[in-house]
Amino acid sequence: MLTVSSTDRVFILTGAGLSADSGIPTFRGLGGLWRNHRIEEVASPLAWHRDPQLVWEFYSMRRRVASAAKPNPAHFALAKLESVLQDRLFGCTQNVDNLHERAGSRTVLHMHGQLFKSRCDTCSRPPFDDTNLWEPPAEVPRCQCGGRIRPHICWFGEVPFGLDRINRALDQCTLFIAIGTSGVVEPAASFVAQVSGRARTIYVGPENPANASSFTECYLGKAGEVLPNLFGSFVETGSEAAGSDKRSPSDPVPGNRPGSQVVHKNDFGIK
Ligand code: APR
Repeated sequence: MLTVSSTDRVFILTGAGLSADSGIPTFRGLGGLWRNHRIEEVASPLAWHRDPQLVWEFYSMRRRVASAAKPNPAHFALAKLESVLQDRLFGCTQNVDNLHERAGSRTVLHMHGQLFKSRCDTCSRPPFDDTNLWEPPAEVPRCQCGGRIRPHICWFGEVPFGLDRINRALDQCTLFIAIGTSGVVEPAASFVAQVSGRARTIYVGPENPANASSFTECYLGKAGEVLPNLFGSFVETGSEAAGSDKRSPSDPVPGNRPGSQVVHKNDFGIK
């Protein structure tokens, strides 16, 4: 039985799979390609240096897709969990969309940046809200200092945001739950190993991640179907939920690793 006790501190790590049910393709789902460019070739400082216009085209496309998407029942389940656990829950996402916030989550740390923020590539002006689409024939926008405005995204080869806070929260957590992440991109892929042996470690997604051996339990299924059941009957989906009227959540399925167990509806007792 999966129970959150009054002394538990919960670390939630989410990845692209969480937003898959909202219509935002995962990276591995795309085959790692966009218009025959490897994602790393349009999401790196080198790509920005070589062809900033191409980089902005890529992020403009992603802004368009994310704007059209709606949070799904998994986002709402996590927002509800946050409202119950409050500062005993630390939410960390690799996703750059804003679906957690649109579902009601207030404190999610975006370790890979935020799609709807931009910043200057030269001066220290703080990141600012930006929903513009910078596509040809639009020029790459410039800062007052003359620098170029870039997406506020942690590209390959850059240091993720908030690692100090993340490490503190990992040190404190007693329950670690990763959802919809393939377990291949560092440093997030190593978070589970950092806490295993000390915290309970749970994975939710349709297939085992690459780092499955570090989890005590894997619940195989779509996040939008597993999470509302995993967190018990108190989790409701909001009116903005993508496809929430069509879904009939099924019981979570146990992972295929030794030690995994079936979790029945409403067994997740929040104290
Ligand atoms: N529910 C839950 N998980 C799902 C679903 C779903 N409906 N659909 C797919 N998944 C799982 C896949 O099984 C896969 O393990 O989501 C995972 C998506 O993996 P990736 O595309 O690798 O995404 P992620 O792990 O978040 O990538 C990490 O890599 O490209 C970089 O910066 C980018 O933040 C990204 C990082």
